[in-house]
Amino acid sequence: MVIRIAAVGDVHLDEDVLGRFRPALEELPGSVDAVLLAGDLTRHGTEAEARCVAREFGGLGVPVIAVLGNHDHQCDQVPQVVGALEEAGITVLEGDGVVLDCPGGRLGVAGVKGFGGGFAGRCASDFGEPEMKAFVRTTTESADRLSEALRSLDCDVLVALTHYAPVPDTLAGEPLEIYPFLGCYQLGQAIDSAPTALALHGHAHHGSERGTTPGGVRVRNVAHPVIKQAYSIFHLGDHLDQGEVSGVAVGGIQQPWS
Ligand SMILES: [Fe+2]
Ligand SMILES: [Fe+2]
Repeated sequence: MVIRIAAVGDVHLDEDVLGRFRPALEELPGSVDAVLLAGDLTRHGTEAEARCVAREFGGLGVPVIAVLGNHDHQCDQVPQVVGALEEAGITVLEGDGVVLDCPGGRLGVAGVKGFGGGFAGRCASDFGEPEMKAFVRTTTESADRLSEALRSLDCDVLVALTHYAPVPDTLAGEPLEIYPFLGCYQLGQAIDSAPTALALHGHAHHGSERGTTPGGVRVRNVAHPVIKQAYSIFHLGDHLDQGEVSGVAVGGIQQPWS
């Protein structure tokens, strides 16, 4: 039995690109069991932009599950952004999870935005000024919430959904100097603390697609500028080689932001 998901992040929608993803998305019913969105759904986190996301990804006839990204926090309108998405039937995760009953089994998705901090040997530490301690506390608390959510789900196939990267592999192509702002090793540890089948993230527009956690979990950067298509499709199942097939191409929306 197979569970099939479509995933994309960093669509950074506003009115000028409204409708660009929709034709490809409308091919999904019957082809996948869920659509996962890896944050940075908007450009500046306004309610108006969130309504564009709702129009683009709402009412598809396929469950849509999202986490927010840093851009979705920019205007301090997170409750309004989440409200607009949820009104359209989109599930927004932040330190929690959801289980979907699919024909191929129960799909569990645990999600958190995550945060920066860096990777082994080159990371921020809980030391010194209160601001640095607060930064690292945000990182560790976010990873702890992801770990708890992953371990709480009773399902056949478990997927971790974040905006920030859990491993440095999928940042290859980004300047080394900004790695600590693109992800943190604690998210990777959280993913490895549960029987996770696949970890999806975005944020690293200039990164690369494939990586693996220290515990061997497949990591995929599904940021739209990286996958250069409307979504990637993943087939997941107990006895599968967990192959991937490509999604449908959509006009290149190259953006300078992460
Ligand atoms: Fe981002
Ligand atoms: Fe982004």
